[in-house]
Amino acid sequence: MAVTPLILFSNPRAQYQAHQDEMDAAVRRVLRSGKYILGENVEAFEVEFAQFLDIPYAVGVGSGTDALHLALRALGIGAGDEVIVPVHTAVATVAAVCMAQAQPVLVDIEENGLTIDPNEVIKAITPRTKAVIAVHLYGQPVELSLLLAICAQNHLKLIEDCAQATGACYKERYVGTWGDIGCFSFFPTKNLGAIGDGGMVVTRHLGIAEKIQRLRQYGWDKHRLPLEMGINSRLDEIQAAILRVKLPFLLKDNEKRVKLAEKYHKGLGDLPLVLLSRRPETYSVYHLYVIRTKVREALLNYLKVHNISPGIHYPAPRYNLNAYLEKIKTKNFPVTEMIAEQILSLPLYPELSEDDHNHVISTIRAFFKMV
Ligand SMILES: Cc1ncc(COP(=O)(O)O)c(C=O)c1O
Repeated sequence: MAVTPLILFSNPRAQYQAHQDEMDAAVRRVLRSGKYILGENVEAFEVEFAQFLDIPYAVGVGSGTDALHLALRALGIGAGDEVIVPVHTAVATVAAVCMAQAQPVLVDIEENGLTIDPNEVIKAITPRTKAVIAVHLYGQPVELSLLLAICAQNHLKLIEDCAQATGACYKERYVGTWGDIGCFSFFPTKNLGAIGDGGMVVTRHLGIAEKIQRLRQYGWDKHRLPLEMGINSRLDEIQAAILRVKLPFLLKDNEKRVKLAEKYHKGLGDLPLVLLSRRPETYSVYHLYVIRTKVREALLNYLKVHNISPGIHYPAPRYNLNAYLEKIKTKNFPVTEMIAEQILSLPLYPELSEDDHNHVISTIRAFFKMV
């Protein structure tokens, strides 16, 4: 008897299969070119990505984590400085602040949208605070007007962590273009994913773009003279070539995610679950479809038995950030602690088949008939 494949919460292989011929050809062209680092594909992709977002500068780097790390360094943020970060995020956001030698100051999230709570940001500001990182978690834009106002009043820089939100909009403008710097990840599972690591820094400021260009390559200027200390974090030609193939499909793929999310909303709306509500004036790109339930462990096990593999983004801070918490002053995050026990990321990616989608919905419905 044929075994039904597991329905994963994300599926980068399905993206490859959807564009296989173009991706194979793009990789082959790079292999034959003999130019593998910072060549024509990176240069062209930087221009195309900047045009897509309608922002002057985009600089390709090795990962989303490096994008955040280099963004902080480009803003002159380092030892002795504090950076406010939501506690409910990928560990990468916090790791990047530590990599820049700055002190992450974690703050709790809003229960509605599960993104950074602006009131907690205000409370966390000290004379050492230099920046806030707004994480557009799960593809959902943060309430940016409020954060921009807080940053302006307190002379803080705003960095947008758009790793999960490529193509998401706040007030009809793409996220990443609102703050001082926008940082993107092209990790394979992301809405715009490569076939390895990759990231991008975008900005309106030429000086910042030039600094990132130096920092991503040992601090080199155009003549390969190190003007300052940098690292090695370059987007490579193969990843850039793949991303050039996929960028033209991003809007359509995001629209497919939105449709799948709407169907989940309809199919699950009457169950005893908390569904994420959409913020007004935002376009969420549903990197993840996250539900909340008090019977999370039982539902998780039931779904696994029925060939469905959800994710948890993210476990409680004491697990998710345990190696980092030592450095953190506050450890009291009531909203994050509460929701971390309840959240579940359901399968959602553009190629998710109707049958599989229906199977997820009907399995969750069957579970709630039993409990
Ligand atoms: C919110 C967030 N920030 C940053 C990152 C880091 O991106 P990367 O894995 O490309 O370093 C990720 C990816 O896991 C993420 O989800």
